[in-house]
Amino acid sequence: MRKFIVGGNWKMNGSKALVNEISGALNAGDFGPVEIVVAVPAPLLPLAREKFKSTIGVSAQNCSQEKSGAFTGEVNVDILKDINVDWVILGHSERREIFKESDEVVGKKVSFAIKNGLKVIACIGEKLNEREANQTMQVVIRQLEAIRKELSEAEWANVVLAYEPVWAIGTGKVATPQQAQEVHSEIRKWLAANVSQKVADETRIQYGGSVNAKNCGELQSQPDIDGFLVGGASLKAADFVTICRCKL
Ligand code: G3H
Repeated sequence: MRKFIVGGNWKMNGSKALVNEISGALNAGDFGPVEIVVAVPAPLLPLAREKFKSTIGVSAQNCSQEKSGAFTGEVNVDILKDINVDWVILGHSERREIFKESDEVVGKKVSFAIKNGLKVIACIGEKLNEREANQTMQVVIRQLEAIRKELSEAEWANVVLAYEPVWAIGTGKVATPQQAQEVHSEIRKWLAANVSQKVADETRIQYGGSVNAKNCGELQSQPDIDGFLVGGASLKAADFVTICRCKL
């Protein structure tokens, strides 16, 4: 009932040539009902929207919670919509850690983006020291609560959650299917208790962190894993195609 969704987050990588290469591979592929969203660096968004076929979503990797104005270097929702970009990744751990985005800022960004017509991949996840201190769910719930308090029940229809344990991002150290499933299942229980059963049943929860062409098969078999948010492997056409096909 939840449509599997695979996101490719290029982070600060790529080029016009890579847009051409990956769009060529994805446009030619058959992915059945799997939804695909590709998040490229902001300057490549117009080219990506032109090159990827219309059934493939194109996403920004961040946007402002302000409508417009004197915010040098920021990207706003209206400009994204003007260039036909309809997705944005918000709250990625790199935004939280390197650019010091607080839970509150992430919550406000998610809310602003959704209220102004974008769909959001909202990232949550614990750091290694937090997992080792058995604080995983405490951290994840704190991050979720900052989003929940900004949204109406109906607005959750435009949210995809990405559970990305920070210790698994770019490290090659993937969460085991059991570790990921356990957190996804707890997130769903929390949504049922704190938003509604409908939102718990319908919200898609991606796993992200060292997903690759080899480990995607086992991860996708978990009942509460509804897709992936892929970093490094989304820059390699053959690997990303394999990941996008892993549910078929
Ligand atoms: O947004 C994607 C994640 O940060 C995962 O990155 O697949 O390179 O570990 P990774």
